[in-house]
Amino acid sequence: MADGSSFYITTPIFYVNDVPHIGHAYTEVAADVISRWHRQAGEDTWMLTGTDEHGQKILRTATANDVTPKEWADKLVAEAWKPLLETVDIANDDFIRTTDERHEQNVQKFLQHLFDEGHIYTGEYEGYYCVGCEEYKTDSQLVPGTGEFEGQLVCEIHSKPVELLNEKNYFFRMSAFADRLLALYEERPDFVQPESARNEVVSFVRSGLDDLSISRSTFDWGVKVPWDDSHVVYVWFDALLNYITAVGYGQDDAEFARRWPAQHIVGKDILRFHAVIWPAMLMAAGLEVPRGVFGHGWLLVGGEKMSKSKLTGIAPSQITDTFGSDAFRFYFLSAIGFGQDGSFSWEDLAARYQAELANGFGNLASRVVAMIARYCDGAVPTAATLTAADLEIQSIERRATERSWEAIGRLAVHEAIAAAWELVDALNGYLTSEEPWALAKDPAQRDRLETVLAVAYHGLGTLAVLLSPVLPKATAKLWTALGAPGTVQEQRIDRADEVRLGEQVSALEALFPRIEVAG
Ligand code: ME8
Ligand code: MG
Repeated sequence: MADGSSFYITTPIFYVNDVPHIGHAYTEVAADVISRWHRQAGEDTWMLTGTDEHGQKILRTATANDVTPKEWADKLVAEAWKPLLETVDIANDDFIRTTDERHEQNVQKFLQHLFDEGHIYTGEYEGYYCVGCEEYKTDSQLVPGTGEFEGQLVCEIHSKPVELLNEKNYFFRMSAFADRLLALYEERPDFVQPESARNEVVSFVRSGLDDLSISRSTFDWGVKVPWDDSHVVYVWFDALLNYITAVGYGQDDAEFARRWPAQHIVGKDILRFHAVIWPAMLMAAGLEVPRGVFGHGWLLVGGEKMSKSKLTGIAPSQITDTFGSDAFRFYFLSAIGFGQDGSFSWEDLAARYQAELANGFGNLASRVVAMIARYCDGAVPTAATLTAADLEIQSIERRATERSWEAIGRLAVHEAIAAAWELVDALNGYLTSEEPWALAKDPAQRDRLETVLAVAYHGLGTLAVLLSPVLPKATAKLWTALGAPGTVQEQRIDRADEVRLGEQVSALEALFPRIEVAG
């Protein structure tokens, strides 16, 4: 479809103040599935993730733990954030840290450029700052505190007191870009997705844009402002630039041209940074704006956003240790409409694991492979005359292939999985109606038996390819059992219905074994 064209996708870079929870894993998995899908469609794909290590939030955490911020960040990256990628099976191409030299140097280059072009001035600012958000808050974003913070104003997201800051800072003339931003949202309606996120961003910018304070001078954990080393760059201004410093901005023009612009996947908590501040920064620098910004929903606990700072996080390994990484990926991306909030529950996860993965897909795979082993000595049969039921399966293979790829193009990950799942359900229905086990009892039905198994075998091959971005481990095992050449990841997903398979199946262990959940 889009052979050879470039596709660059990013996750936010996460704060290393604490260890990841399933909310971070959710973003990683979503970006990874979209990335794997594009790569398997023959696109020149690049997936970036990483960590956000500067600013007051990290400095304070490190200080409280009696280490330097760099020591703290090194430890958290090595012990928590990189291992997260293993835990949920992320095939990222790069991992950027804002303390990388390739990043720090080019943040300075970018800032100097904006300064030289007159986009930056010195000003004074007084306002309420939330260290949790690393952001100045307007009055409307503050709410009365409760409990120990009774009588104080707290951040609506972190429920912690804000601090009144008064500093002489450098400012970015962001207000100058309001009209160009509105024109961008107008001309490219899918620049910000989903629709609800776009509406929020448009009305925010319409209500008027302020300039942005982009430096801090009361602490020094950050990138130094190149023309004034008594200031460090504001942590968000520094962090957003990771998306370009990671792909050669300022040092490798060819690589930068090859990758940029990116599709950003972020949680809706940080939508404005990505859909307002970031494109304004790029416009000021004369660079292309992102390909798009998708703000996904929140995983909720008791109706509230699961959060590191509120200690409501569930560790991803708590789920993967029992259910495996494939089930984690499948559950969060199929059970929650991408863009909507979702609540996690062990009961729902266990029920879907059993119904959809174990009974739906896993059982289908085992049955087809086992019947070919049993009735055909493992030799993949060829189809004879095709009936309407056989042709129907082939047409569902085509439809699932087309619809899932079309859905991925709209970043509708849950729809892509649902489109592929139509084939799981169709194949299960096909086995029920064609009853190959009954055909096997009647030698006169030998041709029909072989045809049914050949059709089911091909359907399973198509499914392995279509589901490989979501279920990389299970589909790799299935691919081997199908006796198909190469790896499933090498197969073209946009032509999954034309997949070429093998001649001999081999034993397949249960893809999704029964799990006894401790009550
Ligand atoms: O904001 N549900 O980092 P952060 C879903 N460093 N996703 C969630 C979530 C939840 N309950 N909680 C967190 C920062 N996330 C900045 C980003 S980017 C240039 C800088 C995910 O560690 C979601 O992707 O607070 C959210 O946007 C992100 O973690 C925030 O991570
Ligand atoms: Mg946060």
